[in-house]
Amino acid sequence: MKILIVGGGGREHAIAARVAESPRTEKLYCAPGNAGIASVAECVPIGAMEFDALVAFAKEKEIDLVIVGMDDPLVGGLVDRMEEAGIRTFGPRANAAIIEGSKAFSKDLMKKYKIPTAAYENFTDPDAARDYLKTQAKFPIVLKADGLALGKGVLICNTLEEALEGVDTIMTDRKFGEAGKCMVIEEFLTGREVSVLSFVDGKTIKIMSSAQDHKRAYDGDQGPNTGGMGNFSPSPFYTKEVDDFCQKYIYQPTVDAMAAEGRPFKGVIFFGLMLTPDGPRVLEYNARFGDPEAQVVLPRLQNDIVDVMEACIDGKLDEIDLKFADNAAVCVVLASDGYPVSYQKGFPIEGFEAFEGKKDVFCFHAGTKFDEQGRIVTNGGRVLGITALGDTLKDARAAAYAATEWIRFENKYMRHDIGKAIDEA
Ligand code: AMP
Ligand code: GLY
Repeated sequence: MKILIVGGGGREHAIAARVAESPRTEKLYCAPGNAGIASVAECVPIGAMEFDALVAFAKEKEIDLVIVGMDDPLVGGLVDRMEEAGIRTFGPRANAAIIEGSKAFSKDLMKKYKIPTAAYENFTDPDAARDYLKTQAKFPIVLKADGLALGKGVLICNTLEEALEGVDTIMTDRKFGEAGKCMVIEEFLTGREVSVLSFVDGKTIKIMSSAQDHKRAYDGDQGPNTGGMGNFSPSPFYTKEVDDFCQKYIYQPTVDAMAAEGRPFKGVIFFGLMLTPDGPRVLEYNARFGDPEAQVVLPRLQNDIVDVMEACIDGKLDEIDLKFADNAAVCVVLASDGYPVSYQKGFPIEGFEAFEGKKDVFCFHAGTKFDEQGRIVTNGGRVLGITALGDTLKDARAAAYAATEWIRFENKYMRHDIGKAIDEA
């Protein structure tokens, strides 16, 4: 098969690595890709939002399968465009990707179908939001921009004053752009967070192994929210009891709800869960693999990923016996110092050769590119994701941190406590 992956981050590198090793893959392209993806795919300089150019490229190269990794093109309707052109595509159509594209939509869906989530109200008028906040007695309270905001459109406000400022930030000043046209105000939940990715074919859902992200920039879960600074899989807190609850009240009910709404979901649903003292609650849905969740979950997948994706497209996921290795993975993100606020790019990166030939350690590229001299240089906030497999989470963590030392670049920054929760399990 000729396959095209759309995206250019660590998640797409993790997907590309598995697709490349499938015996069914004859030729792999990635648009736009990055310097690491270039080692397993031919990168083509087309941006993920350049739909006309992507469709034209897929037609010209007679692509058999397109895999859309990123949220923006999914929410923007790239899958619809590809399908209209007769090209098989893995990922939800726009009318289903809205589960991530609009938090107000997903909250209303959960309310209508009684899927457990935090209590909330939606607002399109900032004054109405301010009036509502003044009636609230419980703080912290959570403000969420409705639309896509790179994982940064959520404000946890400790006081009424902070919350009123938050309304200005999201709705009046539009710090997150159009995403702030509408806003969700919701109850603050406490507990451990777990990420659960799943494959969905419109009616059947199969859960992948769980993961736990580290969203804050600094050690000890301090500092601003980021796209994710590292994670591990499986989560020891995702017990059989939690799984039973989620299977019954969250996973299948979500898939059935989307089908009932005339928005059948095909692709990956990512459930962001909070394990509260009252049971699991959905914090958010994403319509794609997580980044860096893909970097710890996919290396443990035992199936041929191309088979699984095709089964999702064909509505035959029930025929797939989805399996994960009985091991563990830890990913530590190497970022540019200053991320997510402001950082420099363009520094040469050294040390990649240490990863060559290793089966249990991976260097997934997130923000890298080749410079004019052909050197690999930093090109983003999150630069690399260093993933290691191990028999246990502790082994995997030790191996991942050891491998972070193999890489050198100026302004290299990482958290040193990824997987600290493992010790508390
Ligand atoms: P989201 O993009 O909705 O996943 O939110 C980003 C992060 O904000 C989550 O990973 C949580 O850490 C936090 N968060 C979101 N909603 C809530 C909530 N209702 N209560 C507590 N924390 C939340
Ligand atoms: N790591 C969280 C996300 O991909 O949204």
